[in-house]
Amino acid sequence: MSEQTKICCLGAGYVGGPTMAMIAHQCPDIDVHVVDLNPKRIAAWNSEELPVYEPGLYDVVKQARGRNLKFTTDVPGAIREANMCFISVNTPTKTFGIGAGRAANLEFVEKCARTIAEYSDSDKVVVEKSTLPVRTAESVQRILNSSSSGVKFSVLSNPEFLAEGTAVDDLLNPDRILIGGDNDVAIEKLADVYKHWVPDERIIRTNLWSSELSKLTANAFLAQRVSSINAISALCEATGADVDEVAGAIGTDSRIGPRFLKASVGFGGSCFQKDILNLVYLCEHFGLPEVAQYWEQVIVMNDYQKRRFSTRIVKKMFNTVSDKKIAIWGFAFKKDTNDTRESAAIYVCRDLLEERARITIYDPQVSLEQIRQDLEYLMAGPGGVLTEAQRELLYNNVTVTSSAKAAADGAHAIAVMTEWDEFSDQDFDSIYQSMMKPAFVFDGRNVLDAQQLSDAGFEIESIGKS
Ligand code: UDX
Ligand code: ADP
Repeated sequence: MSEQTKICCLGAGYVGGPTMAMIAHQCPDIDVHVVDLNPKRIAAWNSEELPVYEPGLYDVVKQARGRNLKFTTDVPGAIREANMCFISVNTPTKTFGIGAGRAANLEFVEKCARTIAEYSDSDKVVVEKSTLPVRTAESVQRILNSSSSGVKFSVLSNPEFLAEGTAVDDLLNPDRILIGGDNDVAIEKLADVYKHWVPDERIIRTNLWSSELSKLTANAFLAQRVSSINAISALCEATGADVDEVAGAIGTDSRIGPRFLKASVGFGGSCFQKDILNLVYLCEHFGLPEVAQYWEQVIVMNDYQKRRFSTRIVKKMFNTVSDKKIAIWGFAFKKDTNDTRESAAIYVCRDLLEERARITIYDPQVSLEQIRQDLEYLMAGPGGVLTEAQRELLYNNVTVTSSAKAAADGAHAIAVMTEWDEFSDQDFDSIYQSMMKPAFVFDGRNVLDAQQLSDAGFEIESIGKS
């Protein structure tokens, strides 16, 4: 009989936490220990207020926690007990040195590999869960093999395709599970974990590099769709077409399909930009400049879309927003998450602050501390130091409120940055009364009823509609 699987996952973030919770939930016979270097994060996973806001996640965690799911800072202990280690740590874009602004920073992944090698006293399957550049598995394997303990490691790539905000459902009903590797025994051991709830025909086995590249390619294709419809949104605004109508019409073509055609202020999130930059770096590295330039345009278009939105706000408000109050509805990069990484809201707020606007932000899940940190980071730029003028702007011109209505009180304009459901469900007559006139609404997500708002007296500007 084969040995019972015992899992250790290094990294309790947006990917590691939910994924391991679902594995533990669906596989009561498998012990799952999730470790992190950050004791605050582990304490939050052990509390009633999880560090990751994700609909339905708390129920999943609650059912498995204390049974076969454990969150701990005991990294050596969890590694020793496990025969399968997942690496699920952050791989941000490098901000320094070779490949800065493009390549992924693999420092955390490499440290994980070294930690696994250091504390392992029995053979292990090591699973890459983090999104990684192609051929990272090779480096991880080499680091593990360089350990002198005689322990054997088999490295697999098993990229995660969950989207934030729908993670529980994505994990429960995945379109596919992808496992890349060259050791069939290890591949089947991991497949057996997923087979507890995923039909075998949805488990795809490939070689290591195909698996790693598939993850980057999937995200590049999805981001490309968003940039494509956003490019068309600019043309719609210029010509009088309606981007939602265009998206609806082309989405009925079964070869195109309806999803990921929602025009917006620009995509965000921890993956799209990072993965495309990774792809671009890879293509350049392998001497394929045309391919690199092709994919880079997806990001160029996204930057254009974010900038276009803030420029439109300034232009419509009589070419100045200086000392005007602008309510920012939503700061997360999409609804149903507290994640703000690469959120378009950060860029638009930066632009408005540079124009000396006063901004009042409301997001149902993002804290003041996070908002400050994101704005500080972007405004300080590569040097990492804020000028005195920037610091003043950040502290004098940014406030955070506890409701959408409060943010709009006395404002000259509302800018919708995240498509939270509650934003379309407001008392717009009373909001209109409380605002300065003309009262502008800039709907960066096309979630508000433009006719209703216009009837209430607002001047409404939507994406891709003139
Ligand atoms: C993405 C991938 O979908 C997921 O498979 C991968 O594992 C991680 O990256 P995520 O970033 O969590 O997931 O969210 P996603 O739903 O893909 O949205 C990304 C960004 O694109 C968001 O800012 C979203 O608002 C934006 N978007 C998405 C649009 O603007 N329009 C759309 O039609 C779809
Ligand atoms: P992702 O979206 O990929 O899950 P996050 O930043 O949300 O990224 O989570 C990554 C987590 O990995 C963080 O909580 C971080 O503290 C943790 N981490 C980074 N390096 C290590 C390491 N060597 N061992 C354990 N945890 C780590």
